[in-house]
Amino acid sequence: GETIRVLNVDGFNTPTFDEVMKNQEDVFRSITDWLIKPDDVFICAYPKAGTHWLWEVTSMLVNQSADRVKLIKETSMLEGVTKEMFDNVVSPRVLNTHLPLRLMPKNFLKQNAKIVFVQRNPKDICVSFYNHHKKICEYAYDGKWENYVERFLKGLVDYGSWFEYTLEWEKVFNDNPDYPFYIMSYEDMKTDSMGEITKLSKFLGLKTDDKLIEEIADKCEFSKMKKEKDPLEDAAGWKDGQPGMYRKGQIGDWKNWFTVAQSERFDSIFEEKMKNSKFTYRYS
Ligand code: A3P
Repeated sequence: GETIRVLNVDGFNTPTFDEVMKNQEDVFRSITDWLIKPDDVFICAYPKAGTHWLWEVTSMLVNQSADRVKLIKETSMLEGVTKEMFDNVVSPRVLNTHLPLRLMPKNFLKQNAKIVFVQRNPKDICVSFYNHHKKICEYAYDGKWENYVERFLKGLVDYGSWFEYTLEWEKVFNDNPDYPFYIMSYEDMKTDSMGEITKLSKFLGLKTDDKLIEEIADKCEFSKMKKEKDPLEDAAGWKDGQPGMYRKGQIGDWKNWFTVAQSERFDSIFEEKMKNSKFTYRYS
């Protein structure tokens, strides 16, 4: 039906990770006490902004190799693992999360661990999240698109409102101008992968030669990633046994989903909520 199955911990909605851990509520609450290392790199993004893509690219850069990463990104996802799994990720760690900073480890900003913040236009995020909710068994969701836009605008999904998430991070960036934050966009990555990966490599303090940058861009191109990463997914977790993490990988698919009325409603809420934000988004 129309309900999305999530775990509510002290008012915050997180996906359930039943297959990975027991007593997830306690594990979730303990995250603020976990230890961050100065050489950790964090990919931070609202769901569906391109977390898997940037995690793969960043891992290859850190490894200085275009060899396919043999793990799925969920194995280094802050809220998706136990403390033991987290501590066992091999350093230098490329980690990822959809959490806001206030729910992340307390020692975070002190450690100066690098943060790569990934953004994508919220209409494409909305469409991608709808398909995500529909296809992953854990959510037990079979709602209609006509109801989903309103749900998304209200933040009635895991991780809550995209607006709140984005504004909260923007405030963290503004309040900590000397912190090593790097903001990327899905759309720029699509349009100029080589250029964007080159800049990301510089931010990470790496000297990556152009040939390797080109190989990484190529290995992380949508169809190659889909082909080589889908088989690593637990097919049983997906409806019809079909992994759907790599769905379409395009800019502007929202135009195939939103009605004019939905789009106008979205724009008006966006204008109201983002009126004080400096972030901009590309919709095509
Ligand atoms: P679509 O549903 O629009 O296809 P996340 O990794 O944050 O969950 O985001 C998933 C979205 O990123 C999906 O969007 C997915 O297809 C897209 N994506 C994943 N890998 C990609 C790649 N290599 N290139 C472009 N898009 C990619």
